[in-house]
Amino acid sequence: MTDTKEASGLLYHKLAEFMNDESIQALQQISASTRDLMSCYRCAIMEIETKFRVLNERFSLVHDHNPIDTIQSRLKSPESIHQKMLRKQLPFTLEAIEENLSDIAGIRIVCSFVDDIYMLADCLLQQDDITLIERKDYIKHPKENGYRSLHLIVEVPIFLQNEKRLMKAEVQLRTIAMEFWANLEHQLRYKKDLPAKIVEKTAERLSECARQSAELDARMQEIRDVIEQADGSALS
Ligand code: GTP
Ligand code: MG
Repeated sequence: MTDTKEASGLLYHKLAEFMNDESIQALQQISASTRDLMSCYRCAIMEIETKFRVLNERFSLVHDHNPIDTIQSRLKSPESIHQKMLRKQLPFTLEAIEENLSDIAGIRIVCSFVDDIYMLADCLLQQDDITLIERKDYIKHPKENGYRSLHLIVEVPIFLQNEKRLMKAEVQLRTIAMEFWANLEHQLRYKKDLPAKIVEKTAERLSECARQSAELDARMQEIRDVIEQADGSALS
């Protein structure tokens, strides 16, 4: 606490060298509002994570497995927010950011089986406090490079001391195989210094891997269906 106070005191003196009091106050106000908005997005992440944890818990009670393998969440960094606003040619204001960006709060749900992705998405969307803003099904309609995942942009209420706020969040649901592929493809995308020929060849191989991983997902699903049916008939 003392460290934070000292640091902000130091910052004040630095700013005072080339800014008047009014400007410093305006800057501090922006900084406080930014922290407030980011905290609201963190709350939205917590709300959605909890919803999925509850679904996972309840599902494992009825069925013999947990549908969710892992949950990963991230808050978009200020640098990425800035870059995206520049790319979209939008003003870098908090209002414009909240209005136009729907992926500041990101939650990724990784499942073993494709059917669980749709089951979890349906369960989430059935909840009466969740509003679906946009759905992109890159599993039924993969991207040209082979990318697969189910994306949901949703609005979720968060309950603060004296108010309720509706926050947008991006939920990505994918299988372990889809996650494996997307991570590798992401690495290729950010390798800027590779020769064009290698990039082209690697993209082709990745596309083939995407096809194989979709096939693997389908086969694993079939095997699980057989096992579940066998379990069902053994019980009846
Ligand atoms: P932006 O959100 O503006 O980037 O565009 P968009 O809303 O059309 O994006 P989309 O919903 O298609 O994808 C959003 C997120 O999905 C990205 O930030 C990535 O996390 C993931 N994603 C989408 N396409 C790909 C892809 O081809 N490869 C990988 N690795 N991830 C992808
Ligand atoms: Mg997006």
